[in-house]
This record gives sequence, structure tokens and C-alpha cells, in this order.
Amino acid sequence: MLSPARRLLKYFHCEGIPWPGTAFYNAISKTGIFQRTYELVARDILGYCPGGNILDVGTGPGWLLLKLHQNSPGLRLTGLDASASMVAKARKNMASAGLSEVIEVQEGNARHMPFADDSFDAVVSTGSIHHWRDPEAALGDIYRVLKQGGYALMYDLVSDTPSSVLKETAREFGTFKMLLLWLHAFEEPFYSTKDFELLGRFTLFEEGRIRFVGVLCCLVLKKETAST
Ligand SMILES: C[S@@+](CC[C@H](N)C(=O)[O-])C[C@H]1O[C@@H](n2cnc3c(N)ncnc32)[C@H](O)[C@@H]1O
Repeated sequence: MLSPARRLLKYFHCEGIPWPGTAFYNAISKTGIFQRTYELVARDILGYCPGGNILDVGTGPGWLLLKLHQNSPGLRLTGLDASASMVAKARKNMASAGLSEVIEVQEGNARHMPFADDSFDAVVSTGSIHHWRDPEAALGDIYRVLKQGGYALMYDLVSDTPSSVLKETAREFGTFKMLLLWLHAFEEPFYSTKDFELLGRFTLFEEGRIRFVGVLCCLVLKKETAST
């Protein structure tokens, strides 16, 4: 599905971000373009899942969990990440926000998640799926832990971000940041928009659809309610 060049990039690209990458990512993801994106994504998620419990897979430093809590304090929120060092960073960020008792962060891989079947009203993920070694197996496990009628919302950069989205990024954050974003698409194994849309096709999810939320492409997958 990925081009040979991107398959090679993925081969050398680690799945869970190790230290000191965690410290670097924690620092850059505090900046405006990231935080504005988490805010947009949090509001987008609440449009699909205004209440209940939400799992963020590949949560990284956990900023999206904090935005979700700020926008809707009644949500039950859980983060999962494959990197022990990233989990430690996220737990520290939750503690600094005084939310350790409210937001749980666990270590685990998207392929075999430590949660019971039908546990979550929504499962979300930002900027992580291009790291996953086996995205189809992971989407299968996401299907398992989702409740019937729940949404899986996968947000990520794509390798062919439309020029309209890049122009909007330049207008909001400046041409320099837009160029950095554009260059970033060459050094990580991001999917093309078309391949991203097709990621759910070998899973139990109904066909996915995609749309852009800020700079991120969002793949919307639904676990249909079983007919009686
Ligand atoms: C680029 S960071 C994105 C973090 C965060 N979601 C954000 O938007 O800032 C990708 C994260 O996904 C995690 N990750 C990668 N592969 C994973 C997997 N198979 N299961 C769970 N987490 C994974 C990494 O450890 C890393 O923290």
C-alpha cells in the first residue's frame, strides 16, 4: 500500500518513540501549531462523541486528552502508548495539570490493547498510525474495544496534503511553518490521502471516509450496531 520509498522509511522508523525523542516531541508539541491542532481535533471528536469514555491510542505527551477534558470535563479519558518513556511523560503532564486521578495513561501496543471488548464510546488517535507496524491488526483491536455504534477517528498528516490546506496553514501560522510541515511529509512514512482512506478495508469496519481537520486528515470509521 505504501510506496517502496515510504516502506523503506517505515522499516527504519521506530514504532514507539524512545527517550530522548520523547523529551524533544514533548517540547515541540507544546507550541502553537500543535496546540491549535489538538483544540480543533478535540472539538471535532466531541461532535462524534459528546459524552462517555474515549481512548486515545498513541497518546504521546497526552495533550489531546487535556484538551478533551478542558472542553468536556465529564468525559472519562484513557491514553495508551507503546513507549514507556512517553507514558512517563504523559503521566507527568497529567500530574502537572492536577488530573492524574482523572485521566489514566497506560503502556501498551495498539495491536493488543489491555482493554475488554466493547469498552469505549470512541477511540481516537493523532499523528500515530503511520508509526504502527501492522495498522490493520491495530484497527481490528480498536474495533474490538469499541462499543457498537462507536466511532474510531484516526487523524494523521498525509504525504499529499492538498494545497488548499497548506495555504490555510500558511495564512494561520506563516509560510515558514507551512514549509516545515511540507518538508516533514518527506521524512516520515505518512500515507497518501487515498491509502489512508483505504486503511479500514481489511477490517470489520464499514468503509471509511476522510476529511481534513486543520492540517490533519481524519479517517472516520464506525462500528455499526448489530441488527437484531
Ligand atoms: C508522533 S507521536 C504523536 C503523539 C500524540 N498523539 C500527538 O498527536 O501529539 C506518535 C506516538 O505514537 C506512539 N506509538 C507508535 N506506535 C504505537 C503503537 N503501535 N501502539 C501504541 N502507540 C504507538 C509513539 O510512541 C508516540 O508516542
